[in-house]
Amino acid sequence: MPLRLAIFVSGTGSNARMIIDRFRERPEAGVEVALVVSNKPGAGALAMATERGIPTLVLQRKSFYETEDLLAQLEHFGVNFIVLAGFLWLIPSYLVRAFPRRMLNVHPALLPAYGGKGMYGIHVHRAVKAAGDPESGMTIHYVNEHYDEGDIVYQAAVRLDPDDSPEDIAARVLRLEHANYWRVIARIAEGELGVESDV
Ligand code: GAR
Repeated sequence: MPLRLAIFVSGTGSNARMIIDRFRERPEAGVEVALVVSNKPGAGALAMATERGIPTLVLQRKSFYETEDLLAQLEHFGVNFIVLAGFLWLIPSYLVRAFPRRMLNVHPALLPAYGGKGMYGIHVHRAVKAAGDPESGMTIHYVNEHYDEGDIVYQAAVRLDPDDSPEDIAARVLRLEHANYWRVIARIAEGELGVESDV
């Protein structure tokens, strides 16, 4: 079945942009971005999506956590798969239940290291730097009700230079994310990686 994605973002949306653009170039992949969702009205990702003619939705915290109204909106746009790309709010259980093994997240470290609440963006890279790790990387995993704990689908590592700053590490890891996130989604669309089929 073709994937119709909602990409959830909180910031720049460079991963979202990469996913949108790679699949636009490859209609045969059977992946279409139907919607970009953000918890931040000013997120750069929303302007990027609008420029590309993709509908956007801004979440209100109360509605997101205290109602299930979002499900009807996702259905309205024909969404059957969710991709988190730098989305920082915890996913409520009604949404996890509605998209079992149909929701992916990318995390900028080699989980289970450097995961959990408060471990996002530059905080992750500062912790890696402080530990003096010789490598870091990215993890793509299914999403459950806990931060960064769902089953791991794919990981890729990158060697670090001892002189790398946290910002340098961030740039190295982001390059890995850009190269790999859309490919993993393409493999899921091809049926090479499993998803629940009864949604
Ligand atoms: C990415 O590095 C992503 O792995 C990270 O935020 C960045 C978003 O960049 N996500 C997390 O830290 C989630 N725990 P982008 O907005 O340019 O795609």
